[in-house]
Amino acid sequence: MTREEALAHLTASSAHLRGQAARALGVVGRPSDLQRLRLAQKLEMVSHVNYALQDSIRRLAQQQQPQLLAHDEGEVISDDVRRQIRGQAVEWISGFLLHEIASPIGLVRLAAKRELANRWDSSETKRHLESVGRVFEAIETLKNAAAVPRPQEFDLASLIDELIGAYPEDVTEWISMIGSRPFVIKGDPSLIRMVVVNGLRNAVESQQTVGRPPQSHDVTVSWGETDVDYWVSVLDHGLGINGPIETAFEIGNSTKKNHTGFGLAIARQAVETMIGSLNLEPAKDGGALYTSRWRK
Ligand SMILES: Nc1ncnc2c1ncn2[C@@H]1O[C@H](COP(=O)(O)OP(=O)(O)OP(=O)(O)O)[C@@H](O)[C@H]1O
Ligand SMILES: [Mg+2]
Repeated sequence: MTREEALAHLTASSAHLRGQAARALGVVGRPSDLQRLRLAQKLEMVSHVNYALQDSIRRLAQQQQPQLLAHDEGEVISDDVRRQIRGQAVEWISGFLLHEIASPIGLVRLAAKRELANRWDSSETKRHLESVGRVFEAIETLKNAAAVPRPQEFDLASLIDELIGAYPEDVTEWISMIGSRPFVIKGDPSLIRMVVVNGLRNAVESQQTVGRPPQSHDVTVSWGETDVDYWVSVLDHGLGINGPIETAFEIGNSTKKNHTGFGLAIARQAVETMIGSLNLEPAKDGGALYTSRWRK
């Protein structure tokens, strides 16, 4: 795409075309295009196009003022800012993937269903497309985990009750809770839900595959606060951690059948969006300890 074409496509009705134009201008644009890019960004409602515009604006602004970039700038960026930049990148890439690939995959599914007719239900194609569908759902959750927090007051203890209550009784009987109630906090309930759900799910799954019947208090969910942050932890007596812990946090790493391996990455993204941290470590007497904390 030439610079002229890209400038013209900035106002196209197709978000796909606007996205292409925004990215092209990061390469072929000139600092004098900054004003048009900034106006386009102000009006842009589709998040991945908006990020593409933001990225191109940053590139062109750097061309305009190269002297402002200190060579050791990396060293002065704080960890929090670095995480926020990473969060924006995650939101941009995941939004882009969903936007660009979701609809072709929908078309593949429709065509396969039509072409396979009564063989569809038992087909490998259907099975594989279901697994692609799981990955897409996980990408969507990851995108939401990187979205700007919307804090409100709510009772964290009730949220945890609700999440544990979603399991059948033969599971809830071995999950215990330690924390004050009500525990009213200000935070984004949907981000906190992602953090607790994934920790709890992993603990329950680990406990269920350990090879002995679960006993009461095998999984314990605790919560509380310090002067500066809130925390939630989940302790289990399951399989424990095998291999390097950081590998478990990488997207797509799973030791379980039919799982996408997104859970820890989503949970870590959600706490980092709230300015916090997430850890998984071997528990003292076997099993694992999952600890999340985020700033008040
Ligand atoms: N409490 C735990 N005990 C033992 N291993 C764990 C625990 N939590 C996570 N892991 C390990 O880390 C891996 C990655 O966890 P993660 O939640 O990201 O993915 P997953 O549970 O495999 O899949 P998904 O969460 O997408 O369903 C797991 O497959 C497991 O090997
Ligand atoms: Mg998981």
